[in-house]
Amino acid sequence: MGASIGKRDSLADGARLGSSFQWHDGFLVGHDGVDADHKRFFGYFSDLAREIDGPADPAALEHLFTVVLGDLGQHLMAEELFLDAIGFPETASHRTSHLMLSEQAKAAFAIGLDGEWATALRLLATSVLEHITEEDSKMRPFLAVTSAAE
Ligand SMILES: [Fe+2]
Ligand SMILES: [Fe+2]
Repeated sequence: MGASIGKRDSLADGARLGSSFQWHDGFLVGHDGVDADHKRFFGYFSDLAREIDGPADPAALEHLFTVVLGDLGQHLMAEELFLDAIGFPETASHRTSHLMLSEQAKAAFAIGLDGEWATALRLLATSVLEHITEEDSKMRPFLAVTSAAE
């Protein structure tokens, strides 16, 4: 069923996806641990894109995607603890946005399991990127103020 379609769309898309989801320092929020985690996700997107362009072994893609989802779950938890610890004023709404991101990531994985790995990667990377630029970026001014006050 979806596997052959996924393979066809993936051949054209892997390299393009890999280059459209590149880390740049404009994504930095100003905390080394959080930024290192975020950077790592862009590495995963490249790995997934390369895998999609390669023999596109579904088992390898499933494994890699599972690793990424596990790491994303850890990151979201660690980030919430960090936000609690620093007294970030929007932690509650940030938590809600993490729930949404987790759901989006799971939905992307389901699409991948259906054979549409390029679409799955595009959805996952877009969701993570949007979360970083629209939600995590709100930490930047808060961290800048709190670190200046130290
Ligand atoms: Fe976040
Ligand atoms: Fe984050």
